[in-house]
Parts: sequence; C-alpha cells; structure tokens
Amino acid sequence: MMTSSEIKRIATYVEKGGVGKTTSAAHIAVAAHNRGHEVLLVDLAGTQNDLATHFGLSIVDEEATDDGVSIDAPISAVFGDDWAFLRDNIDDLLDRMTFPTDEGPDLIPADPGLGGADNNLANVPLEERYQKLDGFVEDLVADKYDLVIFDLPGKEDNIALNGLFAARNVVAPLKPGAFERDQLQKLDATLEEISADLDVDLGLALIIPTIISSQETLSESFVEYVTEEYPEIVGEPVTKTADIGNNQNAGRTLFAVPDDELYATGKRAREAYSANTEQLLSRLTDR
Ligand SMILES: Nc1ncnc2c1ncn2[C@@H]1O[C@H](COP(=O)(O)OP(=O)(O)O)[C@@H](O)[C@H]1O
Ligand SMILES: [Mg+2]
Repeated sequence: MMTSSEIKRIATYVEKGGVGKTTSAAHIAVAAHNRGHEVLLVDLAGTQNDLATHFGLSIVDEEATDDGVSIDAPISAVFGDDWAFLRDNIDDLLDRMTFPTDEGPDLIPADPGLGGADNNLANVPLEERYQKLDGFVEDLVADKYDLVIFDLPGKEDNIALNGLFAARNVVAPLKPGAFERDQLQKLDATLEEISADLDVDLGLALIIPTIISSQETLSESFVEYVTEEYPEIVGEPVTKTADIGNNQNAGRTLFAVPDDELYATGKRAREAYSANTEQLLSRLTDR
C-alpha cells in the first residue's frame, strides 16, 4: 500500500472560465496515465459535468440505464456533516464515488450538491473549513492512486479553496487576451494570500499558454510575456485546434484519436500536453 505522502496532487485553477482548465485537466490526466500513473480526476467545477462529458460518460439523475450512469455517492458528501460517518461505515465508498473512463484515469464527476456544499462550508469553523478535501485525499484516495487532479471552479469559493489546500500545486492554463496578463499577476497574488490565510505552501507548478495560434500576433506576444515572467514554470504552448472541441463532443481526449483523424494542429496540441505533463510530473517529484 502506498503511503499518503507519495500521492501527487494538482489543481487546474484560474479565476476565469473558458481558458482551458477542464481541457488541461483531462489531457494531463490521460498523459500521466499513459506514463504509468494511477490517476484520479475530480470534477469540482460545478454542475455542468464537463469532465464526464469529456470522457463520454453521461450522468443521469435517476437509476442508471443504458444511456448513462447515476451518481451513487457524490463528491459533495465530502464537505457535509455526515462525511466522517460515511467514511467510517461504508467499505467501498471510494469505489462507489469513482467511475472508470475509457482512457485510463478514474473520474469522480461533479454533482448538483456542490453549490449547496459551498454555502454550507461558510458555517463550518474556519479551522476545518478548507481541510475537508485534503482529509478525503489522505483517508481514501492516497491508498489507491498516485496522482489526483482537481478541476476547480473559475472562482474563489469554498470548494476551490478546499481544492487548492488539498492540491498545493496549481496548473494555470491561460489563453491570449487583453486581460490575461492581469489574470496571471492576480493569480500569483491570490495564491500568496491563500497560502498565508490557510498556512499552506501553495505554488504555481505550471503555466500553460493555451489556444495559441501562430497566425495571431496577440498569441505570440502573450507566449513571449509568459515566458519572460515565468521562465521556470512555463509549459509548451498548446495550439489552437478544432480537434479539441470536436473530440470533447465525441467524448474523448486527443490521446484517444488515431493520427490520421487529427489535423496537424491537433497533433501539435497533443504533443504539447504530453511534454507539459512530463515537465509537471518531474517538478512535483522534486518538490
Ligand atoms: N487548444 C484549444 N484549441 C481550441 N479550443 C480549445 C482549446 N483548448 C480548449 N478549447 C475550447 O475552449 C473552451 C473552454 O475550454 P475549457 O477547458 O472548458 O475551459 P475552462 O475549464 O477554463 O472553462 C472549450 O470549448 C474548449 O473546447
Ligand atoms: Mg471548466
């Protein structure tokens, strides 16, 4: 059995939507699996269940059918008052929370209870409020997996703070745009503030310039800016490609697509995610 200290943890987080957090979480998860890791992906990003869709899993509210799987033990329970009881009394709790994907990583989908869980956490004493997810990793996840990836909401709510506290290492995808430079500086400041508040050592482990087009000057200058500001942790830019969205809709990452079905841009994006995952994993080992 692995000890908890061996599990690597990361969170995809930027206080903004549409920058590639979910896409990056999915692709890094599969790339890490392909490098031999036991990977658990956790969707904390809300009720749209983006990660489930990304892996072709359809979540249905009622009983499981041929059309979809239903959530038996939701991730939101980790944040609730009954958690300790559930954890101590249900033997196969983690198995009941996770779903296998076709591409290797296991997935805990988002569930509708996350919104309420965020509100309820506001009433939990400060010294316990942000530690719930960390406890879940220590108690259940670390025995079975060696990498856990949290896909976080694009806002600093109590769920995101739990994710940051549990993960320590932040992966920040960011796409070119007028305000994205501010976004990076804001993220730096936010992580410093949260580190002080929660008394934990949070750090940016990887910045991924995403949705990068070689034809757009904004893209080029954005990559240059990030590379100059964060030379140690900038990843390989991920090319803008229609292959990403098309395959998300088909329920798979670029890693599950045969070469002859990808554009050149899709192959480049896939290579970038491979290289970024390798860089990230070696950095986490060193930390
Ligand atoms: N490299 C890329 N090229 C083109 N579109 C992309 C790329 N990466 C992500 N997208 C698209 O951008 C949108 C936002 O990505 P997503 O990962 O859902 O962002 P977030 O989780 O930060 O909200 C999605 O429609 C996704 O398909
Ligand atoms: Mg998302």
